[in-house]
Amino acid sequence: MPLTRRQFVQSALGAGLAAALPAGFFSACSVSSKTAGASSAIGSSGVQRQFADSSPIVFPKNFFWGTATAAYQIEGAWKEDGKGESIWDRFAHIPGAIKTGETGDTACDSYHRWREDIALMRAMNLNSHRFSIAWPRIQPTGAGPVNSKGVDYYSRLVDALLEAKIRPFVTLYHWDLPQTLEDAGGWPNRDTASRFSDYAEIVARALGDRVSDWMLFNEPFAFCYLGYLEGTHAPGRKSLLDFLRATHVVNLAQGAGFRALKAARPLARVGSAFSMISCEPATDSEADKLAADRAHEITNLWFLDPALKGRYPESLAFLPDLALGIKANDLDEMRASLDFIGVNLYYRSLVSAPGTVERISHTQEWLFPVKVGSANQGPKTDINWEVWPQALHDMVMRITRDYNRPVIEITESGCAYNDSPDASGEIRDARRIEYHRQYLAGLARAISEGADVRGYHAWSLIDNFEWAEGFGQRFGLAYVDFKTQKRTIKESGKWYAKVAAENVLPAGA
Ligand code: FCB
Repeated sequence: MPLTRRQFVQSALGAGLAAALPAGFFSACSVSSKTAGASSAIGSSGVQRQFADSSPIVFPKNFFWGTATAAYQIEGAWKEDGKGESIWDRFAHIPGAIKTGETGDTACDSYHRWREDIALMRAMNLNSHRFSIAWPRIQPTGAGPVNSKGVDYYSRLVDALLEAKIRPFVTLYHWDLPQTLEDAGGWPNRDTASRFSDYAEIVARALGDRVSDWMLFNEPFAFCYLGYLEGTHAPGRKSLLDFLRATHVVNLAQGAGFRALKAARPLARVGSAFSMISCEPATDSEADKLAADRAHEITNLWFLDPALKGRYPESLAFLPDLALGIKANDLDEMRASLDFIGVNLYYRSLVSAPGTVERISHTQEWLFPVKVGSANQGPKTDINWEVWPQALHDMVMRITRDYNRPVIEITESGCAYNDSPDASGEIRDARRIEYHRQYLAGLARAISEGADVRGYHAWSLIDNFEWAEGFGQRFGLAYVDFKTQKRTIKESGKWYAKVAAENVLPAGA
């Protein structure tokens, strides 16, 4: 059975060692988890109540209440105004690549409807919006001349956001590599790092007079793994070596892009948004705890430690330099003293150590002793991801402890629930309200324990093109009728508007 997007970590950990993993190698653990002191009561809508929510919680002054989107998932206009082809344009057109057979050619048509989208943000009282720039709109072939119409689009968007008193929070790369660069080797090709830093400089010069907060990458682990090893995302390659090389080139690009952006705009605040999964030991055994720590390094630190420490995490030490393509000076080149750490977190995983027999019978587990699985204790969203608010709290605290209290932005968290309008046209998505309420309560707990968290960006503003899932999974605070492109704010969007306006998480029902 092909892995879904969220199961990627299961096989990713083993994938570092062999291209052809036996099916089910990292199958889900069946053990149940400890709940780390969580109360685990089930709320009225079935969402896990792990944090007391009987009284309102006030958030820090100037907290950023935002939403997040990505260019390919919302813009459409895939061939307009001189835009070049991206790897997602190409990939989505391959029969069978997208579960529903759909493409992002039109998506939410935000390229034309961005005013409506900003109106939604206003109605939700947001003061931050995270969006990404489509590289092939700026440089159609990923190198050389700038497409001024592409720049104009984002320039107008930035102006309108500022006008609405919404912070433009810009991601440079949310997965849509210009196809020409993929044809030249894609992320495994070292030259792509230089192309990325040129692109970063162009955008910084064009928008950096008005944009102060940037993310270089969105979820580097996810796009390298899914795109180059598992092949379920663009560009659809399935090669262990390509995957390993891609991770290293992205780390080089992160360093180079950081320097280029800072050179152009010294006052800019620059981070990246990392996919993070709280890795819990499946049992209290020392072996499982050790395995969970290893899994944490691979899943969460593969792109963070190179930036902040100039080295790969310990758990990758067994990989020869040749496998990753590391050359002299590369470790220094990867460094980027990020101004903040962006955390995208949706759920946790349960990790156990493989037993002796498993280790002997699988070389992979001998060399890399972790078994990672998803957990089934909390309720599941429609995309089958476990709701586990404690995970956000735990991850934020772990990063806070391990990296000397860095500035953290929650760059994504959210849930797919496919509720549709009722007879009166309302979208009553109580489960989404409970999701955000509990994740925010966990976050508030982390802040009260000393974490320096500056903002929370709900994924997503509107229902959109969910990559290989097509339009089948709705994450929005606003509903989109994809036939008419009509947007309707869901009950959760109205609730979020109140939270943002008051800077207070209200007590639960
Ligand atoms: C994240 C991606 C984002 C969206 C959400 C649901 O991993 O960064 O684009 O697909 O998941």
